[in-house]
Amino acid sequence: MDFDASTPLAQEIARLSDRRRRAETLEFRKPAHTRIISVTNQKGGVGKTTTTVNLAAALARAGLSVLVIDLDPQGNASTALGVDIRDGRPGIYDVLIGEQSLADVITTSGENEHLLVAPSSLDLAGAEIELVSMPSREFRLWQAIDAYLSHREHHIDFVFIDCPPSLGLLTINAFVAAREVLIPIQCEYYALEGLSQLLKNILLINDHLNPDLTLSTILLTMYDSRTRLSEEVAAEVREHFAQETLTTAIPRTVRISEAPSYGQSVIAYDPGSKGALSYIEAASELSQREEHHAQ
Ligand SMILES: Nc1ncnc2c1ncn2[C@@H]1O[C@H](COP(=O)(O)OP(=O)(O)O)[C@@H](O)[C@H]1O
Ligand SMILES: [Mg+2]
Repeated sequence: MDFDASTPLAQEIARLSDRRRRAETLEFRKPAHTRIISVTNQKGGVGKTTTTVNLAAALARAGLSVLVIDLDPQGNASTALGVDIRDGRPGIYDVLIGEQSLADVITTSGENEHLLVAPSSLDLAGAEIELVSMPSREFRLWQAIDAYLSHREHHIDFVFIDCPPSLGLLTINAFVAAREVLIPIQCEYYALEGLSQLLKNILLINDHLNPDLTLSTILLTMYDSRTRLSEEVAAEVREHFAQETLTTAIPRTVRISEAPSYGQSVIAYDPGSKGALSYIEAASELSQREEHHAQ
């Protein structure tokens, strides 16, 4: 068969193989101190879990040690990393109510020995209410992470906290434990709706609970280059948040959406795919931005 290198498909294939080659030479910077990143957006379905899982997997693939804390009762991040949360194992709920330490519940993901998971469980849904009457209710996740990291043998480069789609006590615990907030923004109608409320919440946390918390990173997700809408949303976000927004946008791809049903990140499921390459590029960018944004 003749191969016409000028067709759009051929050009797309050539671009993809270029990106695959480049992905092998991308740099990933190991931070001097553990970076703790809360992946937050009170809207559901914007790509929080997908972003948590795949940035974490991309960094672990590069040899960095990464811990994913699944703070959403739905447990999608745990499942996507191959951890079965229906088997009654202890999880982050038991840590928050003080019955287990973080070290007790952490398990290695199926796909990479550098990628650890503190899984969710169904009873986490009740924690939002149970925590209300507990002492230092906003600080319990911070205390658990601090105790874990203070052990010399627990060296972690990145902690990602996958938040539930609300601004309740679980998310507040994430905001107190983290130094950085990463907001995934779906390139869709109403993408910026609710964002000012989220930013206000970060300021409130700054005033009352954690002065170090900053919005460090925005990642555009489910970008569809064929639609004007995606382009418009992306342009608007980049205009408002020029510093924070990663250059890499994550495209909407089938591979990304089917990986979780195999209990894998897209990085493990199809490492050469467009979706995996985008998350690898975004993870590299995130790792390089330390000096400007964290600390
Ligand atoms: N880039 C993408 N391409 C295709 N599907 C995606 C992409 N990102 C997320 N999804 C899908 O969209 C849905 C919502 O994503 P998810 O990460 O679970 O959002 P959230 O955690 O914010 O609720 C999931 O079914 C997920 O598989
Ligand atoms: Mg989620």
